[in-house]
Amino acid sequence: METDIERAGRLILASKYVVGLTGAGVSVESGIRPFRGPGGLWTEYGEPPMDGYQRFLANPKADWEQRLKPGGYRRELFETLEVAEPNPAHNALAELEELGILRYLITQNMDNLHRAAGSKKVAEIHGNFSKLRCIQCSSRYERGEISLETLPPHCPRCGGMIKADTVMFGEPIPLDVLRICEEETSQSDCMLLVGTSAFVYPAAGFPQEVKRRGGALIEVDPYETGLTPVCNISLRGKAGEMLPRLLDCIKVKLHRGEAEPPI
Ligand code: APR
Repeated sequence: METDIERAGRLILASKYVVGLTGAGVSVESGIRPFRGPGGLWTEYGEPPMDGYQRFLANPKADWEQRLKPGGYRRELFETLEVAEPNPAHNALAELEELGILRYLITQNMDNLHRAAGSKKVAEIHGNFSKLRCIQCSSRYERGEISLETLPPHCPRCGGMIKADTVMFGEPIPLDVLRICEEETSQSDCMLLVGTSAFVYPAAGFPQEVKRRGGALIEVDPYETGLTPVCNISLRGKAGEMLPRLLDCIKVKLHRGEAEPPI
């Protein structure tokens, strides 16, 4: 009896352009809580207001002061982000890229763990907590590059206002990242969904777009998600356990010459 892992491995190797879409679940085994469902931050603290960005624009100094002295969910989240390390799920995705199997990785996570694991082709649709961004010219800076003596800080390039690179509720997704996500999604005939409830748009729309064009969806999640009904294969388990097994299965098939890596 072929296992779901083997079916998923065969489907991935039969696909021409595999793109990954990850959410908070891929980083749970790195000690960062998800937002929804069991153990979710929003489950405990409640969803933050949907107009976070408008509140930032109304009083950027106050928002920056809160960000530098965080309370509530922010304090817990920021503390875990500072110390988190990649887990076997992040490492497996980086190796799938290196093998030429995973063409691009779209992540909703701002935790920088895919990059830390060695993934290169990464689009961080909700930004990166270790970076700052100018809201006028979209220039991005490492945190240490910008003085926070005067709040809000301003862009050394264009003078625009600088905020954290992470995308707030109510904030438009930066166009440079959005374009990459849409471009990669438009080429994809198989999307590997890992640890996302597929609740938040525009990210949740990408797998639907792949499906609409006749592509396949594989999800990795211990629980059912909003996309389970349209997934070709659901690997029901933790990402840190399932993805290394999927990687091993694919490597065995490649070794046996059952398939060629796409590139
Ligand atoms: N491995 C894989 N998946 C897991 C694991 C695990 N170890 N633990 C939990 N999950 C799953 C949950 O079952 C859930 O389906 O991860 C998913 C996490 O869903 P959310 O918490 O809703 O996270 P995400 O989909 O990334 O949320 C999208 O919402 O709040 C905003 O900006 C925030 O980027 C975030 C966006």
